[in-house]
Amino acid sequence: MIRVNEDYLKLPGSYLFSNIAKKVAAFTEANPDKKIIRLGIGDVTQPLCPAVIKALHSAVDEMADKDTFRGYAPDLGYSFLRDTIVEKVYKKLGAGINSDEIFISDGAKSDSGNIQEIFTHDTKVAVCDPVYPVYVDTNVMSGRTGIYDENTGLWSNVIYMPCTAANNYCPEFPKEVPDLIYLCFPNNPTGATITKAQLQDWVDYANKNKAVIVYDAAYEAYISEEDVPHSIYECEGARTCAIEIRSFSKNAGFTGTRLGYTVVPSELKDADGVEIRQLWARRHGTKFNGAPYIIQRAGEAVFSEEGQKETNEQIAYYMNNAKVILEGLKAAGYTVSGGVNAPYIWLKTPDNMTSWDFFDYLLLNANVVGTPGSGFGPSGEGYFRLTAFGTYENTVEAVERIKNL
Ligand code: MLT
Repeated sequence: MIRVNEDYLKLPGSYLFSNIAKKVAAFTEANPDKKIIRLGIGDVTQPLCPAVIKALHSAVDEMADKDTFRGYAPDLGYSFLRDTIVEKVYKKLGAGINSDEIFISDGAKSDSGNIQEIFTHDTKVAVCDPVYPVYVDTNVMSGRTGIYDENTGLWSNVIYMPCTAANNYCPEFPKEVPDLIYLCFPNNPTGATITKAQLQDWVDYANKNKAVIVYDAAYEAYISEEDVPHSIYECEGARTCAIEIRSFSKNAGFTGTRLGYTVVPSELKDADGVEIRQLWARRHGTKFNGAPYIIQRAGEAVFSEEGQKETNEQIAYYMNNAKVILEGLKAAGYTVSGGVNAPYIWLKTPDNMTSWDFFDYLLLNANVVGTPGSGFGPSGEGYFRLTAFGTYENTVEAVERIKNL
């Protein structure tokens, strides 16, 4: 008789954002006259920029012509996009990345969820706490995380690296040495960043301990300050210890069209000298038939002169929202951080409310949706995340409503 993978049953019934969506749907049904403002999930609200739309139209036309029609995309990505990424992203960082080290995908979420399957079941995994839930959940799904402790909210085989106000939301080296280390900077959910020197320390630590860092750089386009690295390959030695994950969702509004990529350098090898890149290519070939041609052409357009100008304007628009939230909440007496190099604002809940109590309170009294910090891990308890990805008008209104509570 068929049996499900019991590791799935260890997870909470719903993924964090699905759970929030259900709660909001129930509230909307019960209160149809209320205008809800959604600053929960980090989903963009601005339309795709004109350069991208133009590229989409022209790629659609190619698909209508028998001479230019295309079927399956190459599983690792079209060379026009892989080469453009090398040229426009990594060359200017002096990062020494080649196009055969770039793997185009349908987004950073799938890549960050799938990458763990390359490594053995006894791989010791370290994550920041709070953490983007995909990293932990996908390791749970593959049976790697041991026992869940309901009281602490921790998995016995996961090494949690608390990121709190006390350490400026930057992880410290754990006592137990991990094999696989997930780092996301600018951070989701706290919006915190890491300096280049701090990231270099992590690279040195990983090389010394023969560990691999999965560096999620999905929010790098939001960096506004100097000395904050855009890529882990700005650090010396990263080619032997780091995988980097990038997204078109946050920097160019592709949340609905889906596109991302992962960089796996040729020098990244396991203890027996096996090239990780070859296994990731093998995995792609088996499980993925390539991101659609039309979408890859749209991705290429992001790097055009017009595309860069237009997407930078969108980023500035969202970062202006971040400023509105930061300043408004500070004026209202909240303790807030993030929002300077990232589209997320991390706030301490008032009156020691739990994260979920504050979620309910805000939904009921201000009709504003945010994300409870505890959904990202135990160190997120007592905190709350707001996103700057709303429209300007809604962001201003949400902040006014919160101020008036
Ligand atoms: C978030 O809200 O944390 C992100 O939108 C999640 C994601 O990109 O998958």
